[in-house]
Amino acid sequence: MTHPVKVAVTGAAGQIGYSLLFRLASGDLLGPDTPVQLRLLEITPALKALEGVVMELDDCAFPTLHSVEIGDDPREVFDGVNLALLVGARPRTKGMERGDLLEANGAIFTAQGKALNDVAADDVRIGVTGNPANTNALIALSNAPDIPAERFSALTRLDHNRAISQLAARTGSAVADIRRMTIWGNHSATQYPDLFHAEIGGRNAAEVVDDQAWIEDTFIPTVAKRGAAIIEARGASSAASAASATIDAARDWLQGSPEGDWVSMAVRSDGSYGIPEGLVYSYPVTTHDGDWSIVQDLEIDDFSRSRMDATAAELVEERDAVTALGLV
Ligand code: NAI
Repeated sequence: MTHPVKVAVTGAAGQIGYSLLFRLASGDLLGPDTPVQLRLLEITPALKALEGVVMELDDCAFPTLHSVEIGDDPREVFDGVNLALLVGARPRTKGMERGDLLEANGAIFTAQGKALNDVAADDVRIGVTGNPANTNALIALSNAPDIPAERFSALTRLDHNRAISQLAARTGSAVADIRRMTIWGNHSATQYPDLFHAEIGGRNAAEVVDDQAWIEDTFIPTVAKRGAAIIEARGASSAASAASATIDAARDWLQGSPEGDWVSMAVRSDGSYGIPEGLVYSYPVTTHDGDWSIVQDLEIDDFSRSRMDATAAELVEERDAVTALGLV
């Protein structure tokens, strides 16, 4: 057994938490030889429900679960954490304007960014799942000046996985044969799932599909609006698949993306592909030992360019809105 790794999860009593915690505790993130110490953050009224979830974690008797601590103070819960999965966020409720949503989440991610800055371990990595994920990550990193901005990312891995699954279904291929999928931009309806650089069994995916109308009118909207379709069918939002993607993203970040492949991760833009510097924008990245680098030199045609710019424009708007609120 190696040294225990401290993993913080916020919004731990929520729907995603109910799937995520059990996967983390059973070794899905770090394997059977690395004990996990869970640090779970909730708002005060949800602590009782969280105690119930902890009872269930105990009852699973996972050999890899070293300990569980819960609390409502981010400065205590984040103390010494190596990985923070920021899942908890304020959902949009009836009558709430976009500005109200950004403001409510701004307060959460400002406080959590500051707390991580002050008390997290030196090697901390922070993954933001709670929506609006890209802009929440931007707020958190802006409030954590001592943590390198490269340590923050927002989750577009669920969109990435959805795109792979849709492509596999359309082409009758196996998920395992699909590589180099990319989600560009925002985790929102403007995201751009890109088939022009993806491969199926080594062949260009757009060429295999050979149907631009399907790409534009079916594939892209199906991936981008999958969350709404699941709410419509299930009466509740996607939680197990979001938890699974949160694990996939963190695992590949810490342990490395597969050889010859890449993953989608929203990270602070360095201006690559003409995207404004400083936005938290989803790119194709390769990862190695907790570091990532944006895949460079992909050829971008006019169709992809316009989609990439449209989703960047939405992120610029979100950034302007939170800047006006003094959150970044
Ligand atoms: P949920 O509403 O079931 O759970 C959210 C939990 O966060 C609640 O238990 C709430 O008490 C807690 N919370 C709220 N403010 C908090 C704070 N300041 N500190 C700690 N905990 C806090 O929601 P669910 O389904 O678990 O989703 C969580 C978030 O993930 C939502 O914002 C959702 O939109 C987002 N999401 C993101 C996806 C992505 O691909 N990036 C996919 C699916 C969901």
